[in-house]
Amino acid sequence: MKLSVIGVGYLGAVHAASMAELGHEVIGLDVDAARIASLSAGEPPFHEPGFAELLRRGLDSGRLRFTTEHAEIAGAEIHFLGLGTPQRADGFGADLRALHAAVEALAAVLPAREGAPTLVVGKSTVPAGTARELAARIERIPGARLMWNPEFLREGFAVQDTLAPDRLVYGVRDPEAEPAGMEVRMLDAAYARILEREVPRLVMGFETAELVKVSANAFLATKISFINAISELCEATGADVTDVSRALGLDERIGGRFLRAGVGFGGGCLPKDIRAFIASAEDLGVGQALGFLREVDAINQRRRVRAVDLAREMLGSLRGRRITVLGAAFKPDSDDTRDSPALEVATRLMAAGAHITVTDPEALATARRRFEGLTTVEDTAEALRGAELVLLLTEWEEYRHLDPVATARLVDAPRMIDGRNVLSPPRWREAGWEIRSLGRADPAGRPQAPAARAGFASA
Ligand code: UDX
Repeated sequence: MKLSVIGVGYLGAVHAASMAELGHEVIGLDVDAARIASLSAGEPPFHEPGFAELLRRGLDSGRLRFTTEHAEIAGAEIHFLGLGTPQRADGFGADLRALHAAVEALAAVLPAREGAPTLVVGKSTVPAGTARELAARIERIPGARLMWNPEFLREGFAVQDTLAPDRLVYGVRDPEAEPAGMEVRMLDAAYARILEREVPRLVMGFETAELVKVSANAFLATKISFINAISELCEATGADVTDVSRALGLDERIGGRFLRAGVGFGGGCLPKDIRAFIASAEDLGVGQALGFLREVDAINQRRRVRAVDLAREMLGSLRGRRITVLGAAFKPDSDDTRDSPALEVATRLMAAGAHITVTDPEALATARRRFEGLTTVEDTAEALRGAELVLLLTEWEEYRHLDPVATARLVDAPRMIDGRNVLSPPRWREAGWEIRSLGRADPAGRPQAPAARAGFASA
């Protein structure tokens, strides 16, 4: 099939290359000329395992290309919308301007197909009601229909999540009536090779499909903040959150995934999506229903503050102290630093007067773009040299496997905060380290109570 993908950010670029991999002829469109140039040259604008190979194969096959010209996408049978919906500058709501602008620009070229069926498929995360509004615009064009097909991809697993998703969700205007059948058949044809693997495919109304996506992210954020709230209790009682998490996770009804305590969630999705969800519930007059998400957000913010307080406790004062932060990306296997807990802790420590060195295997360029004046060092050993305190804030494989004995030789004082609960405290203590973790008792098994209370106070 001939497909277009409008907006080739993280989601759109991976979707375009994946569709070409499935045998379609795909053209990716974006208003960002630099991004189009880089994708056209086979250079991924972000770090995503497996994506560079996929992009290269697509370009070499001749089935995948990129453009900034709307006229070039006019002939496609299906147009996927992969535009970003960031948090608005003036509040919690989602900024839908890029999406609306893209639909207007598309509407201007669509009539070129002269009534042949054309499907527009929204993939962006949007507040319920958006699809119905956009459908009204699109359906004024003869033969054009809209579907909403939310994307659930995780960064770091984007290719796998796109080619072998857990489920496909199809939002249509009226799930019980024709001509929903035509839209569903067209999208089924595009996803035929995915559906062959018996991936569950659920057809539902527009609003339901939109809600599935935002509720999935709200649930994941809640699960993380739940265990991080238990962390606060662990700190006040001397309990160990990693043991609580392991024991809870073995209950099949709960499950252990997204139950890892630490400095909490960040990234371009979970934080802004729960805020947009709160704003949308308030607009709909049911704000109370999602009141708990404000607490989910607050718990998440408090973990970042707690990491800074713990550093202050270990060093006495932060002013002038040399601190190394391991990790800048919001999670491992990504160079994305949007709302990264690691970077926020680093900048808070800087604001308190500490000399911060940040290292990360992939994310230093994006980190520097976000915070000018950040001291970054590529090489881990060099970054650790001379540190009086180290904070592990993004659990890259390399940091999980650091050798405590060799690492102790590099630093000035062997002090560590494990912000992701991935190191073995007994092993590190044995090598002479003073190591503290979020949600775990201090070495003497004493509760972190007084400190934890200080953490609450400064939150
Ligand atoms: C998320 C959703 O998982 C995905 O389905 C959606 O399409 C986009 O948003 P992503 O932003 O790539 O994907 O990150 P995810 O893997 O969900 O991690 C989010 C954050 O939670 C990271 O900062 C991670 O470090 C943190 N996290 C995750 C925890 O703190 N504890 C956990 O147990 C799991």
